[in-house]
Amino acid sequence: MKLIFATANLHKLQEASEILGPGFELSTPAANGLTDEIPETGNTLEANSLQKASFIKERLGADCFADDSGLEVDYLDGAPGVYTARYAAGEPQYKDNLEKLLCVLKDVPWEKRTARFRAVVTLIIGTEVKQFEGVLEGHIGTERKGDGGFGYDPIFIPEEIPGPDGALVPNAKGVANAELPEGDKNAISHRGQCMRAMAAYLRSIGK
Ligand code: IMP
Repeated sequence: MKLIFATANLHKLQEASEILGPGFELSTPAANGLTDEIPETGNTLEANSLQKASFIKERLGADCFADDSGLEVDYLDGAPGVYTARYAAGEPQYKDNLEKLLCVLKDVPWEKRTARFRAVVTLIIGTEVKQFEGVLEGHIGTERKGDGGFGYDPIFIPEEIPGPDGALVPNAKGVANAELPEGDKNAISHRGQCMRAMAAYLRSIGK
């Protein structure tokens, strides 16, 4: 099945292709000739992912999906949330988003550093619109660890990770997302959960 993934992030495209498997042929808007910036002006993950998918459907008329994700830190009352990608924007004292978050949580003890990644994927097939949500619970670490993944992965410590037989076990050593093999991260990630739910839905309607 051909689907356009409303993203310019090739890492996400690769991640989605791996999660969905060989039955799906994914491409980006740019690969289909659409290079306009995809708008993302909503106040919620649901609104943004719907806005992005609708934009692609209107411009290209093709079946598509879009994701939006964010990091919710309990100590910050759920911030940066929908603004996660722009957290340190315009604040020159911080090199990047991770540095800002580590700095803001500098003296916060472990038990108060709880956080979660949340993702919402919007799928548009024909005229049907369907949303899927995924949540990954964890803590914000106190230093960067690992060089896998992307974004906040070096400072996100998931609650549970896949054990030797694939079943989830407590993350006793406090391994960061960026230290996990790619398959393990996809197995637990918020976006992975959405993609698997989307794949199951597509199979259920015979796609
Ligand atoms: P967006 O969904 O592309 O708007 O991403 C929102 C922000 O969340 C970006 O800054 C990403 O770096 C971050 N983010 C989303 N998913 C992940 C993830 O799986 N690992 C690390 N950071 C992520």
